[in-house]
Amino acid sequence: MMPVIMKNNLKGMEHLATAVLVCDKNLNIKHMNPSAEILFELSHEKVVNKNISIFFEDIEFFKEALNQAKAKQSSYREHEYFIKTKQNRTICVSFTISPIEYEEFDFFVEFIQMDQQLRVAREERMFIQQQANSELLRNLAHEIRNPLGGLRGAAQLLEKELNEKTLKEYTQIIINEADRLQNLMNKLLTPHQLPVYKKTNIHEVLERVRSLILSEFPENLKLSRDYDISLPEFIGDREKLIQAVLNVARNGVQAMLQEHPKNEMVLNFITRAESQIVFHKKKHTTAIRIDIIDNGPGIDSKLIDKIFYPLVSGKESGSGLGLSLAQNFITQHSGMIDCSGVPGQTKFSIILPIENNLKINEAVK
Ligand SMILES: Nc1ncnc2c1ncn2[C@@H]1O[C@H](COP(=O)(O)OP(=O)(O)OP(=O)(O)O)[C@@H](O)[C@H]1O
Ligand SMILES: [Mg+2]
Repeated sequence: MMPVIMKNNLKGMEHLATAVLVCDKNLNIKHMNPSAEILFELSHEKVVNKNISIFFEDIEFFKEALNQAKAKQSSYREHEYFIKTKQNRTICVSFTISPIEYEEFDFFVEFIQMDQQLRVAREERMFIQQQANSELLRNLAHEIRNPLGGLRGAAQLLEKELNEKTLKEYTQIIINEADRLQNLMNKLLTPHQLPVYKKTNIHEVLERVRSLILSEFPENLKLSRDYDISLPEFIGDREKLIQAVLNVARNGVQAMLQEHPKNEMVLNFITRAESQIVFHKKKHTTAIRIDIIDNGPGIDSKLIDKIFYPLVSGKESGSGLGLSLAQNFITQHSGMIDCSGVPGQTKFSIILPIENNLKINEAVK
């Protein structure tokens, strides 16, 4: 029978965002918390009573680390360690071994996924930078918009006074260019319009984007989808989510067209449920994940750290606002957007937390 104090400790472990394994002195795993199940993609039942060597191929190294921890009666920490999961995925973790010597339990190991840590740090930096950029651009857009109206009006008045057709061509240039700038300014100011929250079905959003993309790019484009139809409805701004996904999807198609317009271009939409995910310094219990994957050439390595900044573009005619707007819209839903992948498989992931949604829901009521 498990002592009460240990039972409580194990209960506490259930809610930890970090992965924990508890072992006996024969290095057999006696308990695994849900975060560890997610990290190693293995269920508790498949792991209990198995030797910890299933995670540490170099078991001698592990025994040595455990001995060091026991000799000092303190924790042993290893910073970067690669573990191959049963699904043949290699993950980089930092781990801590702590002796406990309690009943049948001898020590526990806590794992933190390094790429998750790095991602959180990178994403926080981007978030702060994005806030500063967007404030600067908003002020700038306001300053430009008013004189622009004046310029356009004056050109129109001038045009009325002109009789010569060739001279009118000049005023037309002023008017057209003023309109182009006006459009850009409007785009810069859109993210600051307040969202309109309503019950939203993520698959309706994605299907709308699919039909928009199909009408815009009727070439030999294959749009495949892999939806988890059990995902719940949530409270969101449908139009802004459509715009966000559309901007990402459009980039994907443009990249594929650039690379191999003659080959088969595949854009894939995937939806999944996510749990216990950490970002914006917060753990989110439940979330919806949308992956938008294209088989284009991948993101230019010179741009990779900047693509979410406004006015950053790798295209001649690009305004560099698509991803910055998408990020703004997703942030308004307390979500996050990130990209990863290799050439031939560029993946943009959007994560929309659902539990935050309840707060929005209450506000809507
Ligand atoms: N799926 C992708 N594959 C390759 N490169 C990409 C992809 N998505 C974005 N990029 C790169 O990121 C840059 C920034 O994208 P963003 O959508 O912000 O601006 P843009 O597409 O250049 O212009 P806009 O969207 O305002 O018309 C792109 O110019 C492109 O170089
Ligand atoms: Mg774009």
